[in-house]
Amino acid sequence: MTNLITYYSRTGSCKKLSEEIAKTLSVCDIDEIIDEKDYSGLIGWFKAGFYEARKKEAVISYKKNASSYDNVLLITPVWAGGMTPATRQYIKKELNGFNNLYILSVCMGSKSTKVADTVSKNYEIASNTWCISGAEKNKDQIINEITKLLSK
Ligand SMILES: Cc1cc2nc3c(=O)[nH]c(=O)nc-3n(C[C@H](O)[C@H](O)[C@H](O)COP(=O)(O)O)c2cc1C
Repeated sequence: MTNLITYYSRTGSCKKLSEEIAKTLSVCDIDEIIDEKDYSGLIGWFKAGFYEARKKEAVISYKKNASSYDNVLLITPVWAGGMTPATRQYIKKELNGFNNLYILSVCMGSKSTKVADTVSKNYEIASNTWCISGAEKNKDQIINEITKLLSK
């Protein structure tokens, strides 16, 4: 099976996690979504929350088409209880290209099951959703689950 990990990362956590998961999978490409908006610094933090809360669209770029892969694992930070403008836009653009879409959200303190359930409801196209929460220390367990699933 061919796997693609596509991620968006503002401060590096999702990038690092993507690289970690990619290493555990024998066949895996990795691609970054770039949002043309600058969300860096404190002003960027407020802008990020504002744009996600209002479900704004984003102008994004990335290199790899979802349709070339059996599985796409989208890794996204949680902003204001949702995903991010960049990752929502990515799903919208690639909607007809996914063979299997999996979504892994990464947050600091939100309840992981609540985030994963909300993402599932909003994106029924996703075959599975997970959330890694810094507060719950559930990272290793979820990486194991994903590795097993995508190594088949
Ligand atoms: C604007 C904004 C809103 C956030 N909202 C939440 C939230 O609702 N719940 C939460 O647990 N973490 C929240 N976070 C924290 C991020 O989800 C977390 O730090 C994530 O790991 C960042 O990923 P990155 O380093 O790849 O950008 C928020 C961060 C930002 C910038």
